[in-house]
Amino acid sequence: MPDAAAVLDARDYATFRERLAGSDCRQCALARERTRIVVDRGNPEAPVIAVGEAPGAAEDASGRAFCGRSGRLLDGLCEAAGIRSDRDLLIVNVVKCRPPANRTPRGPEVAACRPFLERQLALAPARIIALLGATALRRFAPERAKGPLGAQVGRFFRLAPWPAYRFIALYHPAAILYNRSLEPRARRHFEVLARAVRAGR
Ligand code: URA
Repeated sequence: MPDAAAVLDARDYATFRERLAGSDCRQCALARERTRIVVDRGNPEAPVIAVGEAPGAAEDASGRAFCGRSGRLLDGLCEAAGIRSDRDLLIVNVVKCRPPANRTPRGPEVAACRPFLERQLALAPARIIALLGATALRRFAPERAKGPLGAQVGRFFRLAPWPAYRFIALYHPAAILYNRSLEPRARRHFEVLARAVRAGR
């Protein structure tokens, strides 16, 4: 079974994926209750990496990111904007293991998963990062995450520590499921993302 060093030593995305999914990572407390390590879903060659928070129950059972209700809404928002989640997105999470009762991942858990997320980004060619919700925004841009998410979503920005990327924050699909009045704005934000994808083709 690959250890953390072997996972991080992977030279290509497919090897990284296989090693992380097949490892028995114990770097944080989430290992105790998870069923599977959830590496991703989508296309490793996609122009966009979408970063969610953490696997939920459906993802923990299947090993695929965003395969439950939130994922179906994400797919629908992409499709309505004219992009395809299986082709245009590589979908990952800030932490790769499900937090108990779907609580927000804690600082030490986010920190423990950091090398895996960073290696994952480094091995994929995407140059646009879509941050799904406040946890993902906080992970990359803690200053921006201090205010309301509504003030940050739907437009591109750059971050000095990540000069290779353009970022866009989006509402997390679970937040839209919880508050359907967010959906019209979310649709417009996905159109902004889709325009950038088309411009890069
Ligand atoms: N919510 C997330 O943030 N990630 C998933 O993979 C599923 C639901």
